[in-house]
Amino acid sequence: LRKDSGLRKSRSSTNKSTVAFFTLLFAALFIAFTVFAVLYLRSRTGFCNFAEEEESDKVKPLNCTVVPTPGRQGIWDHYRLPTSLVPINYQLVLWPRFHPESPESTFTGDVNITFQCKNATDVILLHSEQIEVTVVELVRFEIGTEAPQILEVWRSSLYSYLVINLNETLTENSIYVLRISFSGVIGNSTGGFNVDIYIKTVYFHSCFRSVITTQMEPTYARTVFPCFDEPSFKATFDIHLIYLPNYVALSNINNSFLGLGGGGGSHLKLF
Ligand SMILES: *[C@@H]1O[C@H](CO)[C@@H](O)[C@H](O)[C@H]1NC(C)=O
Ligand SMILES: *[C@@H]1O[C@H](CO)[C@@H](O)[C@H](O)[C@H]1NC(C)=O
Ligand SMILES: *[C@@H]1O[C@H](CO)[C@@H](O)[C@H](O)[C@H]1NC(C)=O
Ligand SMILES: *[C@@H]1O[C@H](CO)[C@@H](O)[C@H](O)[C@H]1NC(C)=O
Ligand SMILES: *[C@@H]1O[C@H](CO)[C@@H](O)[C@H](O)[C@H]1NC(C)=O
Ligand SMILES: *[C@@H]1O[C@H](CO)[C@@H](O)[C@H](O)[C@H]1NC(C)=O
Repeated sequence: LRKDSGLRKSRSSTNKSTVAFFTLLFAALFIAFTVFAVLYLRSRTGFCNFAEEEESDKVKPLNCTVVPTPGRQGIWDHYRLPTSLVPINYQLVLWPRFHPESPESTFTGDVNITFQCKNATDVILLHSEQIEVTVVELVRFEIGTEAPQILEVWRSSLYSYLVINLNETLTENSIYVLRISFSGVIGNSTGGFNVDIYIKTVYFHSCFRSVITTQMEPTYARTVFPCFDEPSFKATFDIHLIYLPNYVALSNINNSFLGLGGGGGSHLKLF
């Protein structure tokens, strides 16, 4: 523009109309280009295509009953977890079955919770919210020794507990492993598994991309997997994530790629 005005100053007034004509022509072309660029971008902006995931692993039916709060009284009527059981380690496998275009995506998971019995009890309490528990199994860590039998698994919704009743008490100082399979809906709560959408643009190619994030604090871990969801119950975690090869899995802790995981050629990563 500076050049242009310089030119205009140096030329005679007869050339002014020519300059004005070209300026107008340029402006018209620029507007036309902008309109077309916007139309083009709009037509390009849609969800990126992702390979369809095979629904290979069907959720197994629960072997025990999960009944909603039957109004019974017991240790599940307390806001804080009893300290009779202490978790040591969680082996967690999470498989988000994510479909960017569908409003509801689900996830499935398995967790092995290794815990120690500090005080004999015949009730196991865990936090669990908005997830469906499909299989519950209790084994004793020491091989060759029997764990009590699970009589009932039910939900006490007042304090978001999953209650597991046993036929006899757990032995003090013994270590047990609780195996639980579960499923849930991604983005069904404000925490836990969240879905966010962003627009990725490379030159004029832009499309919606989705990202699933986890927000476990303060009490959303229970919406992702059954756990002792109180800060004092510290434990170690081995987290495996199963995801499609065209996704990227990131964590704020050290991780290693483990190659192919579950069905549909999914990848498996250990965090
Ligand atoms: C689970 O199912 C198996 C086989 O159907 C049965 O033998 C076992 O008693 C069941 N366990 C529970 C806790 O219901
Ligand atoms: C739980 O333990 C069993 C037996 O060791 C194993 O087969 C299974 O893969 C474990 N699950 C997880 C989630 O690590
Ligand atoms: C656990 O047992 C010890 C000793 O037997 C007892 O002092 C303590 O109060 C018990 N704790 C709970 C939570 O029952
Ligand atoms: C989603 O959350 C609502 C309430 O927050 C609950 O009623 C519903 O059962 C949840 N859906 C699933 C599939 O868990
Ligand atoms: C509880 O179940 C275990 C395992 O099935 C069995 O060995 C034990 O006898 C049962 N105990 C009672 C009190 O029924
Ligand atoms: C991360 O893990 C890899 C493989 O287990 C290991 O070689 C590396 O030293 C670790 N890095 C950190 C910062 O812990």
